[in-house]
Amino acid sequence: MCGIVGCVLNKKAAPTIIDSIKKLEYRGYDSVGIATVTDKINVKKGSGKIDEVDSKINLKDIDGNIGIAHVRWATHGNPTTENAHPHCDCKNKISVVHNGIIENYKELYQELKNEGHVFKSETDTEVIPHLIEKYMDEGQDLLTATQSTVKRLIGSYALAIISSDEPDKIIGARNESPLIAGISENGNYLASDVPAILSETNQIIYLEDKEIIQVDKNGIKIMDLDLNPIEKEVTTITWDPEMAEKGGFDHFMIKEIYEEPQIIKDTLSEENKIKEIVKRFKNFNRICFVACGTSYHASLIGEYLIESKIGIPTEVILASEFEYFKKTLDDHTLVIFVTQSGETADTIKALKIAKKKSETLAIVNVVGSSITREADHVIYTRAGPEIGVAATKTYISQLICIYLLVAYLDENQELLDKLHSLSGLTEELLTKEKQIQTIAKKYSKAKDFFYIGRGFNYPTALEGALKLKEITYIHGEGYPAGELKHGPLALIDDNIPVVGILPPGPSYNKTYNNLQEIRARGADVIILGANNDTQISDFEDKLLFNPIIDEELAPLLYIIDLQLLAYYISIEKNIDPDKPKNLAKSVTVE
Ligand code: AGP
Ligand code: GLU
Repeated sequence: MCGIVGCVLNKKAAPTIIDSIKKLEYRGYDSVGIATVTDKINVKKGSGKIDEVDSKINLKDIDGNIGIAHVRWATHGNPTTENAHPHCDCKNKISVVHNGIIENYKELYQELKNEGHVFKSETDTEVIPHLIEKYMDEGQDLLTATQSTVKRLIGSYALAIISSDEPDKIIGARNESPLIAGISENGNYLASDVPAILSETNQIIYLEDKEIIQVDKNGIKIMDLDLNPIEKEVTTITWDPEMAEKGGFDHFMIKEIYEEPQIIKDTLSEENKIKEIVKRFKNFNRICFVACGTSYHASLIGEYLIESKIGIPTEVILASEFEYFKKTLDDHTLVIFVTQSGETADTIKALKIAKKKSETLAIVNVVGSSITREADHVIYTRAGPEIGVAATKTYISQLICIYLLVAYLDENQELLDKLHSLSGLTEELLTKEKQIQTIAKKYSKAKDFFYIGRGFNYPTALEGALKLKEITYIHGEGYPAGELKHGPLALIDDNIPVVGILPPGPSYNKTYNNLQEIRARGADVIILGANNDTQISDFEDKLLFNPIIDEELAPLLYIIDLQLLAYYISIEKNIDPDKPKNLAKSVTVE
């Protein structure tokens, strides 16, 4: 989830390695570490920012011309020094840095523990050096042992590995987590992202999933999982350092939207943890969600799901209003706190109140954040660090966790199957860029927008409107489709575009009729509908077609159109969507 660097140089490597890993600081991280190889493995690591750790243990003061480093964004285990990467084997002969999540680490951990391996951290990563050790003990060399190891890993990984038994190389591997190599006259490099090594070289080779790489002083060799060599093109990078940080995208927000298909896969991999947590809940007959902003909208979808599927009375309370509703809390209420940052002051305050009387669950993106230390149970959303102030990918991952939670509370296999079939569909959604840009151009001068939807898709209307407000400074209002005629219809005229969320399902006809009513009052209607919907063709060019999916799952996909719409309107208006005025990424005051 965060950053990796590896360098093979003909001089002391640590200063270059630390300068390179510092170039990934913008991504947000919680700890840092470096390992070099001489006749032994040398490791220095600590939790906190690079400069803080460096001032205590002098990260650059470590011998060796070959080394690896990591900035960690914890997914398994708190951000402590023990959990910081690199991780080593029992004999301290192998050292590994890893980005991503090893989904089957528990099984591997048990197997290795039974064979006598001793672990020092709580991370999923640590199984990797121990597996490599096991295969090297069986006589394999570092490359083959890495091959044997990655064949056993399920999940996402970008790896860089060194061993004192073969101190002339770095071995790397990639699956669903970026890894690149760089070559230059002064040295050869491995990194998770271009900006890390751009000041050393602009000659870059991109690895694909299920590829293994060897980096040594002679150059790089890329292989498939059977170690057959693969020819690769060298790309000359012409990005400036700022563009490089955004992976070639213009802004973090759009980069983060494009990460959503992968986020869905990563968050679904939390399934078994959620299943286990559900088993630990005490008896409850009421659920209460507490959150702010985008996390509040994700919670509202939870309310619709629980009410419709399980029938447990559920309510959603804004964290800043929670103290006015606390009287009815009891030990039969499960209170669920949803927060990306885990540091929102209103949400922390509400949690402190709630835990005195009720069982609490937190759904959080940042491992080790304040909320995770207070709640009885924690589910992590696995979206990786989000830099754009407007929440996008973390919203998707919150929703996946909430759907999984409901599926397990309800023992609903059908819902689980549907969730697993989603992954491929999001990629399809990201192909409408041009169309959305055209709509954005047309409406960028509007002063007000309405967003309407029914049932499960009403919170999507709220979230679409929030995205618009945050990054375009246009007033947007989300409304339940049926409620418009109880007042706001008086505002409707040809100056106000209305976005209608219209997936197929039981509420389709009613929402369709509401949209016709709006159209009859002169408003331009932009419709988000299903690919096979022929009824909406008279809405002409303002249609955004989506994969055919049930009304109850549509919130997971349709919001992507609305995130993109807000993004492209902000571009039209020359606003920086990553840093909207007056807003902060985490709101640590009440
Ligand atoms: C979302 O785009 C906003 N930045 C904001 O509404 C945010 O969702 C809210 O402040 C809650 O933050 P949290 O999820 O970190 O608690
Ligand atoms: N899952 C690993 C950990 O928690 C890697 C995290 C990362 O990608 O930074 O340590």
